[in-house]
Amino acid sequence: MSTLLQSKTLGVGLGFREPFRSDIFLNRTEIDFLEITADHYFDANEAKQKELELLNENFELIPHGLDLSLGSAEGIDEEYLEKFAELVEFVQPEWFSDHICFTRAGGTNIGHLAPLPFTREAVAVVAANVKKVQRVIETPLILENITYLVRFPSSEMDEAEFLTRIVSETGCGLLLDVTNLYINSQNFAFDWRRFLDGIPTESVVQVHFVGSHRNGKRLIDAHSDKTEEEIWEVFREVCKRTELKGAVLERDGNFPPFDEIVNELRQARTIMQTN
Ligand SMILES: [Fe+2]
Repeated sequence: MSTLLQSKTLGVGLGFREPFRSDIFLNRTEIDFLEITADHYFDANEAKQKELELLNENFELIPHGLDLSLGSAEGIDEEYLEKFAELVEFVQPEWFSDHICFTRAGGTNIGHLAPLPFTREAVAVVAANVKKVQRVIETPLILENITYLVRFPSSEMDEAEFLTRIVSETGCGLLLDVTNLYINSQNFAFDWRRFLDGIPTESVVQVHFVGSHRNGKRLIDAHSDKTEEEIWEVFREVCKRTELKGAVLERDGNFPPFDEIVNELRQARTIMQTN
């Protein structure tokens, strides 16, 4: 955590998506930083490399990975890690992030963020993988909570304790996705305030936010909806309890006019500055 404490506060940022390409420049003063999907710039063709250079010259960037697969018992893919390290070296970010999950099993990429059982064994796997990443990339890595549609009967603890143990074993900060937390709290009928009581809130470095999406009886993280009041309430509470360094709107689809994106960034900035 010591290097993380030295990281500067970035403010309110936006997850960069290609449809935003011109709007981010037209609204430059509304965007404190951009989060880029790291994987999109690995083995970049000339156009993607140029895009990366342009973004890097004009914005503070935070690389967000999808596929480190920190929960894989088989360990970290060395080639993937090397590519991630090259990107971090190029961007020189304050921190970078990936998820507490696995995306690879038995050499196969399963194509989505799969949840881990909340066990001591899974904590040990994540800790060993994070140590390997930290040996290659000195920049602080922060870890994100995901949504899940099932909870494993083999779990030995609740999610808050699981995250707490991972933080204490790895020294990593947290990227708390408030939408994922809200979705899980609704789907599994737990109180998100009690969840916040159970995690080391001083370790929360960044948050993600976006609207949740109803699919039948469940909420899902479709990243396609406007941030609703219930999510803002979680965001507000997290701001009260932490010294956030960054918040990122993570909108992936059903893109509204950019004014609506700007309004959400403004709302987040007001909450961050007043709580
Ligand atoms: Fe997220």
